Amino acid sequence: MPSLTELYEEIAACQRCELAKGRTQTVPGEGPENAEIMFIGEAPGFHEDRQGRPFVGAAGRFLEELLASIGLKREEVFICNVIKCRPPGNRDPLSDEIVACKPFLDKQIELIQPKLIVTLGRYSMARCFPNAQITHVHGQPKRIGGRIYYPMFHPAAALHQPKWRSAVEEDMRKIPQILKEAERLAEAEPLEQAEQLSLF
Ligand code: URA
Repeated sequence: MPSLTELYEEIAACQRCELAKGRTQTVPGEGPENAEIMFIGEAPGFHEDRQGRPFVGAAGRFLEELLASIGLKREEVFICNVIKCRPPGNRDPLSDEIVACKPFLDKQIELIQPKLIVTLGRYSMARCFPNAQITHVHGQPKRIGGRIYYPMFHPAAALHQPKWRSAVEEDMRKIPQILKEAERLAEAEPLEQAEQLSLF
C-alpha cells in the first residue's frame, strides 16, 4: 500500500485518460490523513486546475460556509473529487474517465479510512448508490460495511438553485449527529448489505 505522498506522485504522473493532455496539474485532494469525514465532489474546475487544490472557487467558498455552520474548518476534513483532472470547459466527467480514476479514489479511502463519506453531487453519489436519484436519496445516511455514506447535493448546484440550497444547508446540519453514530458503528461489526440508518 503506497503512502498518500506516493499516491499523489502517481496521480501527478497519470496518463490513463485524455484529461491528462488538457490539465495544468492534477488535483488529488487535501486534508488530514486521519480525517473522520471525507467529502467527495465531482471534478476540478478552472481555479482548482490552476491551484492544484480542490474546491477553491465559488463552490468551495460555499462548502466552507456550510462546514462553518456545523463548527468545522476545511482543514479538519478531507476533500477530494471523483476525478483528479479538470474536464475541458468544465463538462461532466465521462464514464471512462471515472473508471480510469477510480483506483486513485479507492486508495485514498483505504489510506484515510474515514468513518463518514459525504458525496457531493450525483457523480460521487453513483459510486455507492449506482441507480439512485439524488433528489430521492440526499440527506439519508446509509451504512455500507463499516462506514457511513451520506449523499448531498453538490454545492455548485445548490448555489444556483434556491430549493436545493436549503436542502444542502439542512443536510449539512445533520452531519454532527451522523458522525456520532459513525463513531459508534466504527466499533461495531461491519455489514455486508447497505443499511438505512434511521436517525431522522
Ligand atoms: N466542484 C467539484 O466538484 N470539485 C471541485 O474541486 C470544485 C468544484
